[in-house]
Amino acid sequence: MELFYRISLHELVADILTLIDERELSSKNALERVFRKVSGRDREKARGLAHAYVFEIEKWRAKIDFIADSVLKGSEMEDLDAYLANLIRIGIFEMKFRGTPPALATDSIVRVVKEKYDLPRAKFVNALLRGAEGFDLEKALKKLREKDRLGYLSIKFSHPRWYVEYAIDLLGYENAVRLLLSNNRGQRYYVRVNPLKTDIDSLRDYLEEHGVRTARTPIEDVLKVLDYRTPVTRLEWYKKGYFVIQDLASAYVAHVLKPEPGERVLDLAAAPGSKTFHAAALMENRGEIVAVDYSLERLNKMKEKMKTLGVRNVRLVHADGMKFTDREKFDKIILDAPCSSSGTYRQFPEVKWRFDEGKIRKVVQVQKAMLRNAYRNLADDGEMTYSTCSIRLDENEENIVYALNRIGFELVNYPFSWGDKGFLEIGDRVFRAWTHRHDCNSFFIAKLGKG
Ligand SMILES: C[S@@+](CC[C@H](N)C(=O)[O-])C[C@H]1O[C@@H](n2cnc3c(N)ncnc32)[C@H](O)[C@@H]1O
Repeated sequence: MELFYRISLHELVADILTLIDERELSSKNALERVFRKVSGRDREKARGLAHAYVFEIEKWRAKIDFIADSVLKGSEMEDLDAYLANLIRIGIFEMKFRGTPPALATDSIVRVVKEKYDLPRAKFVNALLRGAEGFDLEKALKKLREKDRLGYLSIKFSHPRWYVEYAIDLLGYENAVRLLLSNNRGQRYYVRVNPLKTDIDSLRDYLEEHGVRTARTPIEDVLKVLDYRTPVTRLEWYKKGYFVIQDLASAYVAHVLKPEPGERVLDLAAAPGSKTFHAAALMENRGEIVAVDYSLERLNKMKEKMKTLGVRNVRLVHADGMKFTDREKFDKIILDAPCSSSGTYRQFPEVKWRFDEGKIRKVVQVQKAMLRNAYRNLADDGEMTYSTCSIRLDENEENIVYALNRIGFELVNYPFSWGDKGFLEIGDRVFRAWTHRHDCNSFFIAKLGKG
C-alpha cells in the first residue's frame, strides 16, 4: 500500500511538472488540473505533498539539472522527453534535497520509468540516478566558481543566468546576492481587508482569535501574516470574502490610483482581479470598472470571486487590452501589464524558467502597445497607474520614458510613502519594491496623466 502510494505520488508530481513545462500553467493551476483526476482517502495529504515537491523542484531546478547534466556528460536534461526529465528531477530532488535514501528514491523512479517507457530507458535512468548519488555537488560548485562566476551563482542560487547578470548590473554584487537569497526564502503572505464586508481592526481580531498572528504594514488595509495555526484560506471569513490574499506591493496600486466613488475606471489586464476588486472596494461599489482580459478562463474565475467579495460595479470584458476601446473615455486606468514576472520568483519559482530574452522582447512590445491604448482610452484630465512585477528596466522605467517621449503621457509626482526609488532620469518619481528589502514581490509602479 505504502509502495503503491509512493509510486502514485511520483507520477502525479511528474504530471504536474510536465503540465507546467509544456502548457506554461502556473503550479497552482497544474496542481488543480491533475488533482481533478485523483480521489481517495489520502487525496488531501497527497495534494499537500505534491505541492511541496513541485514548489521545491521548481525552486531548485537549475541545481538539480546541473547534477543531472554533469552525470550525463554530453547530452542535457533539456534534450530529454519532458516527462522522463521530470521523473529524473524528482529522483535527484529526493536523494539530494529531501534526504530520501538514494536506493529508495532510485528504485521508485526506475519502476515508474519501466512501466511508462521501456527497459532500456529504465536502465538509463537507473545509471543516471546512481551517478547522481555519488556526485559531489560542493566540489563541482567550487570548480565552477573558479572558471565561471555567473554560472556558479546561477547554479548555487538556482536562478536563470540572465537574471543573475541583470541583478548584478542593476543592484551591484552584494545586493544582487541578497535578492537571490531572499527569492529562495519561505513565502510571505499578506491579507487585504475587504472593506465592503468588514474593517481592518475587526479582521485583525478575528485572525488573532483563529491563531493567525499579523502585523500592520505601510498599507492601511493590508496585514502581514507572521505565523498561523491553520492556513488562512481555510477560515470562514476567507470563504465569505471578508479578506483576500494579496501581495503587499500589488495592494499599493489601487491606493496610488485612488479611484473615487462614481468614476469610470478601466483595467486593461485585469485577471485574476486583485487590483480591480481593490479599486471596486475603494469606490464603495459606485461608478463602473470595465475589467478587460485576454484570458476567458481567468475572467470566469473573476466572476466567481466577485460574488464572494460582494463586488457589484465591475463589467468583465473578454478583449485585447492593446486594442479595446469603449464608447466613452475613462477617469482612471489600471495597467498592470503582462510581464516577465521576474519579481515573483519567491512566490512562483516556476516562472524562473519560462522567459528568455526573446520572450521578454515580445512582452515589452505588448506593454508598449497597451500603454498606447491606455492613452487612447484616458480622459484628458484622467490618471492611470502602470505597474509590473518585473525587476527589469525595459519593462519598467524604459517603458515610462517611452510613454513620456513617444506617446504624450506626463509623469504624475506621486508622494510614495514607502518603497525605493527607481532608475534612469525618472527614478525619483517612480516606485520600486524589492523582495530582499520589502519582504514582498519585487514590483514597479508609476503614475501617469495626459500631457
Ligand atoms: C500581471 S497579470 C494581471 C494581474 C491583475 N491585474 C491582478 O491584479 O490580479 C497580466 C494579465 O494580462 C493578461 N493579458 C496578457 N495579454 C493581454 C492582452 N493582450 N490583453 C488583455 N489582457 C492580457 C493575462 O491574461 C493576465 O491575466
